[in-house]
Amino acid sequence: MTQREKWGTKLGVIMAVAGSAVGLGNFLRFPVQAAQHGGGAFMIPYFLAFILLGIPLMWIEWAIGRHGGLFGHGTAPFIFPRLAQNRFVKYLGVIGIFGPLVIFIYYIYIESWLLGYAFFALTGKLLSLATPESMTGFLLAYQGLAPGSNILTAYFFFLVTFVLNGLIIYRGIRGGIEKLCNIAMPLLFTFALIILLRVLSMGPGVLDGLGFLWNPDFSALVDAKVWLAAAGQVLFTLSVGIGVIMTYASYLSHGDDIVLSGLTAASTNESAEVVLGGSIVIPAAFAFLGVAGAQAAARSGAFNLGFVTMPVIFGHIPFGQIISFLWFALLFLAGITSSVSLMEPAVAFVRDEFRVERKIAAKRLLLLTFVLCQFPIMFLGQGVLDELDFWAGTFCLVVFATIEVFLFIWVFGMDKAWTEMHHGAELKIPRVYRFIMKYITPAFLLFVLVFWFIQQGWATILMQGVGEANRPYVLATRIGLIVLFAGIAYFVRKAWYNQKISGEIT
Ligand code: ALA
Repeated sequence: MTQREKWGTKLGVIMAVAGSAVGLGNFLRFPVQAAQHGGGAFMIPYFLAFILLGIPLMWIEWAIGRHGGLFGHGTAPFIFPRLAQNRFVKYLGVIGIFGPLVIFIYYIYIESWLLGYAFFALTGKLLSLATPESMTGFLLAYQGLAPGSNILTAYFFFLVTFVLNGLIIYRGIRGGIEKLCNIAMPLLFTFALIILLRVLSMGPGVLDGLGFLWNPDFSALVDAKVWLAAAGQVLFTLSVGIGVIMTYASYLSHGDDIVLSGLTAASTNESAEVVLGGSIVIPAAFAFLGVAGAQAAARSGAFNLGFVTMPVIFGHIPFGQIISFLWFALLFLAGITSSVSLMEPAVAFVRDEFRVERKIAAKRLLLLTFVLCQFPIMFLGQGVLDELDFWAGTFCLVVFATIEVFLFIWVFGMDKAWTEMHHGAELKIPRVYRFIMKYITPAFLLFVLVFWFIQQGWATILMQGVGEANRPYVLATRIGLIVLFAGIAYFVRKAWYNQKISGEIT
């Protein structure tokens, strides 16, 4: 068997996990969630979700991954059976490959828009679009959604983005992903700081924006919807429950610390989210559009805020052209360090379980994902991207996180799990986390699942919010997802069978 890859340095793995976590969620999704849930009202459930859900899941996922790496496995279908003696758990693990792969196929397209927009910011094109109407018109034309428009330009930037991602994935953990994150992360923080300073100097309205976010409102604690939104945001932004951190952690050695590293990666993500993410978009919108205007912009969603409101604002301030470029470059860097991680579980699965060389595994999977990417690109207007995002980017996260906690803490056992997490640890986890991991985290996740089901479950399953014209496409997407899931499950079974015959597993 060929040697599994390893991270080059301790800082490298922290950068890579932070790179996976810091993404579009930090700079776009977070401010929108906060604004839509009342600003200060959102922050209390958000921080509680971070402490009770995010941090414990981060440690759990790192620990499960490093444990799997001991046996030469990097993905859930072959790690879960090491936690629980049950022949079906490997199929639950399929979610840990399927979820990130599906997110990859639409995330990369959005990432390519950012590259395109960074280019348009540099050439001055965005500067010439002074109003939200003209900026919206430009966005719709770019996406091929305006009458008479096409996606040729968008497709060109998609190809460039895909090739860049492909090269990094092809080069592997140390030579590709770690190198990228070591360069991209400091650069991303520098860009964000420059934009932040520019925004903070925009005028008194900025303070209204900061006040809006940081005035705590305890009454929100009784609103279940706010808890749901906060929990969803914490999982999404930390990249926990996706499966990528598990695979990244499988490239550690057993003596490597995970407690301090996990905490550092999570804190890095939070500073990018609440300090930078929270201080750019909302204050800029408040300063430029006023309270009502900023809230209306936030209600229009993350995309509009990022691709319409922000460039319009930057177009009206001194040095706006360069700030606009930095904004899209920052988002692109945040995106690419996340997208390369989304492909890693699939690559690790093919390489580890079929003993295929990384480069060959990467080539095959890039070919497959290139074909799959065509669906969200060609049928963007028919709701395919949103459908993929809901199932892979929201639903699977909560389900997979619940399975991980249950298997590691309840089946593998709290005592063994605690020892495993502390192996090589440079920091001791406070004992109260034994209670939190055992009861609070799973109860929180179950609450999210049950509440989602009661509130939106049937309506989603029956496609109630989907327009008549889009229903066949949404249905076809669901069938496609089931086929993909079944396909991965088939390969899991095949690999399992091969290893059983060769005596590698008993
Ligand atoms: N965690 C990544 C983000 O925030 C996926 O975008």
